[in-house]
Amino acid sequence: MPFALSAAITAGVAPLLFVQIVYPTAFYTANLLLWWRWMLVIPVLIVAFYLLYLVKSRRYSTWSFPARTLIAAFIAASFLFVGFCWTANHLISMHQTSWPEIYESGNIGISSIEVTLRVFIWAGGAIPSMCIMAAWQLSAQDDQEARIEERRLGRAALGGLTVATIAGVVYLFQLDESSRGLILGSFGSIYLGIAVVGVILQVVLWSMILRNRSTRLQLAMITVGTLLSLIGVSVLREAIRISHLDLNLLFEDHEKAWEIGGFTLFLIMAVVNIAVIGLCVVMVRRGLKQTSAER
Ligand code: HEM
Repeated sequence: MPFALSAAITAGVAPLLFVQIVYPTAFYTANLLLWWRWMLVIPVLIVAFYLLYLVKSRRYSTWSFPARTLIAAFIAASFLFVGFCWTANHLISMHQTSWPEIYESGNIGISSIEVTLRVFIWAGGAIPSMCIMAAWQLSAQDDQEARIEERRLGRAALGGLTVATIAGVVYLFQLDESSRGLILGSFGSIYLGIAVVGVILQVVLWSMILRNRSTRLQLAMITVGTLLSLIGVSVLREAIRISHLDLNLLFEDHEKAWEIGGFTLFLIMAVVNIAVIGLCVVMVRRGLKQTSAER
């Protein structure tokens, strides 16, 4: 889990930089309007991240069930809070007419139904993604225990897909008419179709895995299905945002950003980073050799 979270956080850095450059006013204003909630994101992430290491430790497994449940619930609530902040930030950034009211009242000023549905879409959708990653790891193991775990993953994936799909459909119908028209129109329906095909692939194949041991081809097809649904949903999400913003106001900033290359700096940083990663690998290898020699 700590590794998966590190990977997710690292994967978020580049898009975060782009969002700030591509939509500066909308993004920063939403950050400011979220006020203490946005300021809490990093401290909450740090605490939750280190608690994941505690969950992995031997000491944790010796604690009582209520104590373990409390820690696990705290971690889950922390990540839910971070997810909520990202969703609220995204929605506030799109609803520019509400900015003065949010500023004056200090309240988030966006529909709680919309936020909740989005959280269900992302949280529900995260489960099948996690399941397929875990299923690949299980595929090397061919015993009864692996089979039981695989079926549990299948049930969890189908549950997550059901939650995300229901929330997605309800979300579509509560959208304003122009956004809904965009999704069901000629452009949006292509990506909606891609997302739906992705979900169908996953549902069919996970259902097959519930009955019989998985094959590598099935896992590969589920992976493709997961990617298709992620791509489809992400493009629709972006299309809705673009339809809410006045792009003419952004062109000037985008032209300036386009001229700032920074390729030389990128190369220097890439070399430095590769060297640091290389050094880490060498240190770990030396450490491992030393430990095995001591044994
Ligand atoms: C465990 C912690 C995190 C959770 C649960 C989380 C969850 C989310 C969710 C649910 C969204 C989509 C919001 C929506 O469309 O409704 C999102 C968007 C995003 N997240 Fe994360 N996130 C986390 C950490 C991070 C971190 C640490 C970064 C950056 C390093 C990051 C970068 C982004 C970016 C760039 C977006 C897109 C924002 C936009 O388009 O306006 N996330 N995140």
